[in-house]
This record gives sequence, structure tokens and C-alpha cells, in this order.
Amino acid sequence: MARLRVGVLISGRGSNLQALIDACADPAYPAQIVLVISSHATAPGLKIAAAAGIRSRVIPHLDRHSFAGEAGAILREQQVELVCLAGFMRLLERSFVETWRDRMVNIHPSLLPAFRGLHAQRQALAAGVRFSGCTVHFLRPEFDCGPIIGQAVVSVHPGDDEERLGARILKVEHLLYPIVVRLIAECRIKVIADKVEIDGCQVPEIAVLNPQGTLSTSFSPTSS
Ligand code: GRF
Repeated sequence: MARLRVGVLISGRGSNLQALIDACADPAYPAQIVLVISSHATAPGLKIAAAAGIRSRVIPHLDRHSFAGEAGAILREQQVELVCLAGFMRLLERSFVETWRDRMVNIHPSLLPAFRGLHAQRQALAAGVRFSGCTVHFLRPEFDCGPIIGQAVVSVHPGDDEERLGARILKVEHLLYPIVVRLIAECRIKVIADKVEIDGCQVPEIAVLNPQGTLSTSFSPTSS
């Protein structure tokens, strides 16, 4: 079966791009990255694309309209079927997002709909949440909005700062993004009434506590 043709949009480091490249290196993985577009000429992610032999293009995001025109043309030319935003730090033109409706996904470092926008990890720490994580979702024109496909959770640890929490979240981003792209490539994802349904979705029967602990017997409903 033909592998899904993926284009990745980046602005910086590119560690999620690397995770997707690593997944695609398995010949059995049902997707391939055919194009990387960067909004910044100095993005380290461009070197990652070059090292993997992937075609890349820098399109400075000077204004939304011209970016959409140029990016749209090269995505079509390369017959891209799915666009993955991976640390792409610009708001896209509404008509571009609509053109790629349910064919463009984003990864965000929080459990959406909490903590949209910049500094999601800082927002999570400021709110004092016990858990945070990441979300992969289909894109809608509003920032960090759209049907949620997958989420991964990490604990917030005592004494965490933005960097430590961010690093913990990034590890699960690298696990989640390739899983989601696989599900899309296997045509197992449908958007119905702006919510995602996944065919044959495995859902763990989990109950996670943070802090962990055992209940004192004095709280047991059976104790006298
Ligand atoms: C990630 O935390 C991602 O969730 C957010 O931007 C960051 C990009 O990191 N949208 P990288 O460029 O993939 O390393």
C-alpha cells in the first residue's frame, strides 16, 4: 500500500520532526515525510531534514497571505496528503487552514483545551495542576483549537520548573505524534460533529494518581 505523503511545518528545533523521521525509517510504517517547510532560515530542524535527505523549503512568514500561497503551492506540487505542524510558531491564514481541514494536525505541549497559546508549561505550573502533557489535534483557524486526536499525560513533580516539565512533556510528544500519524495513515480516524472517532482504538484502563499513596485503613468503608 502507498505510504501517506506527509509535509512537516517547523520554525525551530525540530525534535518532533526527528521523532516522525525515526518512525518513518521503518519500512512498515504507513507514512513518509516528503517535504519540510520552515518559517525560519536558521531553524535547526532544517539540518535534521537535510541529514535525512528530505526536501526542505524556507518560506519566511512575512505575511500570512503570501505564506499560504507559497506553502500551498509546494505542498500541492509534492502531493502532500497530511500536514503536520511541529513547533510551527505562526498563526496560519484562515483559508489555508480551511483548505487543509482534517488533513492538518498540530502538537501542543498541554492537555488541551487547557493552556492554549505560548508558554503552556509555564501556564500549567502557574495553575498548580498535578498533571500536564501534550495533545495532537486537527487544526482549526483559532489558535490551538480543533478536534483532539490523542493526548499523553505526565505528572508535574514537586520543584518542577518550565524546563524540567517541558522536557518530560517532550518525551511523550515524541511517542504520541508518530502514533497519531500512523492512525491517520491507516485511515482509522474520522471527524464526526467536530469530534474524533478512532477505529479499533485501544484505550488503557488506567487510574493514575498524583500523589500516589495508599488509603489509611481508618478511611476504609469496611473498617469499624
Ligand atoms: C513542542 O513542545 C511542541 O509541542 C510545540 O513546540 C515545540 C516544538 O519542539 N508546538 P520541536 O521543534 O519539535 O523540538
